[in-house]
Amino acid sequence: MLKNFWYACEFSSAITSKPQRVPLLNQQFVLYRNSQGKVMAFLDQCPHRGAALSLGKVENDCIRCPYHGWKFQTDGTCIEIPANQPGVPIPKKAHLDAYPVQEKYGFVWLFWGDIPENERPPLPSFPEVKNPALRSLQLEFKWNAHYTRLIENSIDPAHSAFVHANSIGSGMAKEPQLPNYEIYMEGWGASASLYYKQQETKGFFWKFVRQKNRLQIKTTRGFYMPNIIYSDSENIILFVAHVPIDDKTTISKFIQFRSFFTQPWADQIFRKFNSKVNQEDKLIVESQSPKIAPYDLTTEIHASSDALPLAYRKLRKKCLDIGWAEEPHISKLNYMNGHTLSVERQII
Ligand code: FES
Ligand SMILES: [Fe+2]
Repeated sequence: MLKNFWYACEFSSAITSKPQRVPLLNQQFVLYRNSQGKVMAFLDQCPHRGAALSLGKVENDCIRCPYHGWKFQTDGTCIEIPANQPGVPIPKKAHLDAYPVQEKYGFVWLFWGDIPENERPPLPSFPEVKNPALRSLQLEFKWNAHYTRLIENSIDPAHSAFVHANSIGSGMAKEPQLPNYEIYMEGWGASASLYYKQQETKGFFWKFVRQKNRLQIKTTRGFYMPNIIYSDSENIILFVAHVPIDDKTTISKFIQFRSFFTQPWADQIFRKFNSKVNQEDKLIVESQSPKIAPYDLTTEIHASSDALPLAYRKLRKKCLDIGWAEEPHISKLNYMNGHTLSVERQII
């Protein structure tokens, strides 16, 4: 896992004035909204005896631990130990670290890292989110897989003809060849547009998504470090935060925008359809070995259709090479093709 990035970790709508546990990067955070609507984020672990603060209460913007009632204000300072006699000083170490948070595009983004504020990579730009003509839908999916494999799966154009032969890829199943495509590097991300021959796909949506009188349709896919992918198929746009929970678990939070069937009643149809497509991916992605996408670019074999996933792998390697690997104590998994690594290099 990588440090020094803003991680989209939860939908904004999920964070209220009630403390909410948010797992991320082998840790548990507690998030809540203060009376001004600002999201606060701390580790979900009381410095007294380690109880989960998310089981506690928010009182006047402060969070009160459920175990012995210690109360912490928004900068993390403990301001009350109920069992103390009046006048007994509060230990200086009774303090929570507050993590920087911002909200954008329907997600809460938490910064995890140790570089100064002015050096932090910016959030990606998603202007489509502001288009009121599009209907948005939030979806969530849990995988027993590492987020690196999921990012690569999301931006891999060659698997649909096989993995999704009975759904979104049915039109490609007979002709799985892909055109060569160009990669556009965009700061901390990259994208590629592919033009597909328009072929009838299985399922209910086909007649609505078909572009009349056109032989080709354009699909753009992209990624943005550390955990965002997007795809734009003209009438369906998808943003996904593949939230790294631990080395074996990822929770993907999807925001899907559509320009057809924009009535709320249609949401359930899209939920069901997305779930089917994700189940198809789940079987394959959870089978991949090693669990973590290799660091060494020569470990696995790349075809020309892998250009975009390879661009992700290269950018991730660059981040690891500049020392943005996560702290060594967090994970013990070896990601480098079975070879023993130096401690600094063991973690992604
Ligand atoms: S564990 Fe939180 S107050 Fe004791
Ligand atoms: Fe897929």
